[in-house]
Amino acid sequence: MERKTRFWNRIAKKYEATPIKDEAAYQYKLKITQGYLTPEMSVLEVGCGTGSTALIHGPFVRKLVATDFSENMINIAQRKASQHKSDNVEFRCESIDAISDHPEQYDVIMAHSILHLLDDLDSSLQDLYGRLKPGGYFISSTACINDMVGVFRYLAPIAYRLRLIPYVNCFGIDDLTQAVKLQGFTLRDQWQPSAKAAVFLVAQK
Ligand SMILES: C[S@@+](CC[C@H](N)C(=O)[O-])C[C@H]1O[C@@H](n2cnc3c(N)ncnc32)[C@H](O)[C@@H]1O
Repeated sequence: MERKTRFWNRIAKKYEATPIKDEAAYQYKLKITQGYLTPEMSVLEVGCGTGSTALIHGPFVRKLVATDFSENMINIAQRKASQHKSDNVEFRCESIDAISDHPEQYDVIMAHSILHLLDDLDSSLQDLYGRLKPGGYFISSTACINDMVGVFRYLAPIAYRLRLIPYVNCFGIDDLTQAVKLQGFTLRDQWQPSAKAAVFLVAQK
């Protein structure tokens, strides 16, 4: 775990400074997500990075808890939250593995650009399912590498060993949708801005 957090801690400042690759697609995903949010909702975001998405959605819900296992990412997110004067978004430094210990259940859980970074996708999806209220929504955006750059699945383990990239779990869109359905979710929305882009999913418990 320490090795994994080290990678993200190391790149946190650079990550904050890097512009979003496809701003129109990002805005569209925000808009779809906001269609599912209401002011009384309690929302969790896992792998929140530097917190931009959490801070955008915060004003549309009652409470938003945003977590990430990288201390440096969370420090940046907390700094941004104080600049935003946001008082209903709480940033916590914790691994996705810790969510099964959360006492509360959420109306919406978001996981953007993190599902392909997890060792055990099925187990994490099971935990996320468990933390959602019945009828709650799971909203995610995921790089399904096998459908993007097939050859990357062979290069990824080498690049990981050389510490050039984080651990990456290579799977395709069908693998992801099957894994989501396997936990009991019903798919409500699926969108990809282009053939090789991350897939945006909305699934309901
Ligand atoms: C590609 S970044 C995405 C950040 C943000 N969600 C976004 O869309 O910009 C992946 C984030 O997931 C976090 N992360 C990776 N594995 C994690 C884990 N097992 N538990 C918690 N956070 C994790 C990293 O620290 C990093 O901030």
